Amino acid sequence: MIDGKKVLFSGMQATNVLTIGNYLGALKNWLTLSDEYECFYSVVDLHSITVRQDPAELRKRARNLLTLYIAAGLDPKKNCIYYQSHVSAHAELSWILNCFTYMGELNRMTQFKDKSAKHADNINAGLFTYPVLMAADILLYQADVVPVGKDQLQHLEITRDIAQRFNAIYGDVFTIPEPYLGKVGAKIMSLQDPTKKMSKSDDNINASVYLMDDKDTIIRKFKRAVTDSEGAVLYNDTQLGIHNLIDIYCACTGKTPEEVVKEFDGKGYGEFKLAVGESVADILTPLQERFYALEKDKAYIDGVIKENAEKASYYATKTLRKVQKKVGFPERIR
Ligand code: TYM
Repeated sequence: MIDGKKVLFSGMQATNVLTIGNYLGALKNWLTLSDEYECFYSVVDLHSITVRQDPAELRKRARNLLTLYIAAGLDPKKNCIYYQSHVSAHAELSWILNCFTYMGELNRMTQFKDKSAKHADNINAGLFTYPVLMAADILLYQADVVPVGKDQLQHLEITRDIAQRFNAIYGDVFTIPEPYLGKVGAKIMSLQDPTKKMSKSDDNINASVYLMDDKDTIIRKFKRAVTDSEGAVLYNDTQLGIHNLIDIYCACTGKTPEEVVKEFDGKGYGEFKLAVGESVADILTPLQERFYALEKDKAYIDGVIKENAEKASYYATKTLRKVQKKVGFPERIR
């Protein structure tokens, strides 16, 4: 609790450009939860270097992502928006938690298996202990709730296991966090292969809609989206492409799948795809305009970076000191 409010933590990697999967699965829920909770939203740059990065490019993407959080509608006066690398407590707690996490647990992580298959020439220890750093992120702020997409649920489970294990030994140190999944949009699929998650790192640019795509590109990508030969807009488990488009449309418009099926009864896929594309563009166009305006205001963004890193550090250090004391590190002499 901070000032009588429950705490929310979430973050995104500054690797590649965000997709509508990131927006609909996570960022959109951040906006709706932001009034109810004391919120911490991190640009998790420490996680990004588990895969090789170009330094200048990483720095630029991290700043763009931080700016995008604000452009999406998160007020940095109310929400703590900051770079993970500016708060050293993340790395320090992560080390301690490494000593309370088992190799066997980490071996089961599907993201580790996927990423090590994709980056077979660079299976580094950071990639393996990635979920422990994520646990440190969340536990440092004593978060009650963590809004994420479905792909992160396994990491939330291991976070809870680590926290419970630590608490069982040292008493109630950590709040046990709950994941928060949106009703729709928790798993947006690739437009080119609806059995696969839409991902920032997909090599096929037509598989993902990026947050900075212009309206024509968005519409074109939806026109090309893989569907089926049924020819009817129905919400079921066999028409996976249409199912995904309905999910996207619902997440953008607030309609239910039943309403959408009714709306497009007797209409063709062409018309439906155009409507989905337009609903996405209606959200992204104003977001992009705010982003380009904000990006120019260097002093404002710099101020947010500085102030919020200080605020995050304050809360994170409080938990870190408690943990250091519990595990038996010597007290600091003032
Ligand atoms: P990242 O950067 O891969 O994704 C950011 C958020 O977007 C969600 N997401 C999706 N949701 C629906 N459909 C999709 N296709 C889709 N793709 C991505 C993710 O679930 C996530 O919520 N490890 C995390 C970042 C992280 C974090 C944390 C998150 C680090 N520390 C602590 C929460 C709490 C990651 O790589 O997310």
